[in-house]
Amino acid sequence: MTHADAKAPPERGAASERLCVAGLSKVYPTGKRALDGVDFVVHTPGVIAVIGSSGAGKSTFIRCINRLVEPTSGAILLDGVDLVRLDRAGLRAARRRIGMIFQEFNLVERLTVMENVLAGRLGHVGLLDTLRRRFAPADVDAAFELLARVGLEGFHDRRADALSGGQRQRVGIARALIQRPDLLLVDEPTASLDPRTARQIMRLVRELAVERATPAIVNLHDVALAREFADRVVAFSAGRIVFDDTPVALDDATLDRIYGGEDWNATADDDAAPGTTGRAAAGRALGDDTGVAG
Ligand SMILES: Nc1ncnc2c1ncn2[C@@H]1O[C@H](COP(=O)(O)OP(=O)(O)OP(=O)(O)O)[C@@H](O)[C@H]1O
Ligand SMILES: [Mg+2]
Repeated sequence: MTHADAKAPPERGAASERLCVAGLSKVYPTGKRALDGVDFVVHTPGVIAVIGSSGAGKSTFIRCINRLVEPTSGAILLDGVDLVRLDRAGLRAARRRIGMIFQEFNLVERLTVMENVLAGRLGHVGLLDTLRRRFAPADVDAAFELLARVGLEGFHDRRADALSGGQRQRVGIARALIQRPDLLLVDEPTASLDPRTARQIMRLVRELAVERATPAIVNLHDVALAREFADRVVAFSAGRIVFDDTPVALDDATLDRIYGGEDWNATADDDAAPGTTGRAAAGRALGDDTGVAG
């Protein structure tokens, strides 16, 4: 895995670029400028962690890429096709190439694990088949294979509402991957999980991104997870990219710049002192209070 993308200039149209975001801005109807001229290029597979304070624009950025949020201006080229300019049908086709994994899992509760995974294929099958929930045998085989790969062998018949958070996220990962996406967008995949499960999920996302040679853009609040599992870290502040480099370049001075002044080595006990509530939140962001090592 190279870190060639970090700090790569956003030259457009280069043959090797998988994703090229140029001058991306989003102004919400409230007048809030959530993204302010973002340039961002991906050439290589692997995990790109997106970090930054709450409200910095991380989710808006991820959601603009598959137009769950409509960009106000800018271009988003996926393998040379500008997603911003696609009509409905074009966008539907393009979205099949983009896998999305959500914090809140977004499973259909009353459906089985298998049905939820196969829902990831819905973009590929005809309407009638969808209504009858019939899937090609090859898709079913692929779903079984993926379930085994994400550690859910034997769970295919289990209803989604009978799963733990970690298991649900594994289903979410399998559902995103069954469409063989060219790009994975992942918004806070570990936010509802305990620290150990969070690390297992991030390891799985990383392994699959590498195995399938797919870039994965992953929003993370937890800087420790970003450091451990990302090949590249991009930090947002007030709708702009303020850092784009390898995880090792993410030193305390840089974190200060990204998150504001903070004692990054403070413990949770320090944070519990009266009048320091802001620090507790920052400690959580760093994973300092998880007690999980290595
Ligand atoms: N639908 C919306 N309408 C208006 N403003 C919005 C909307 N969604 C987000 N915003 C605002 O845009 C800014 C960026 O929000 P965004 O959700 O992208 O931040 P974030 O970095 O993902 O934050 P968090 O870490 O809390 O998830 C924030 O100020 C937010 O309040
Ligand atoms: Mg967010």
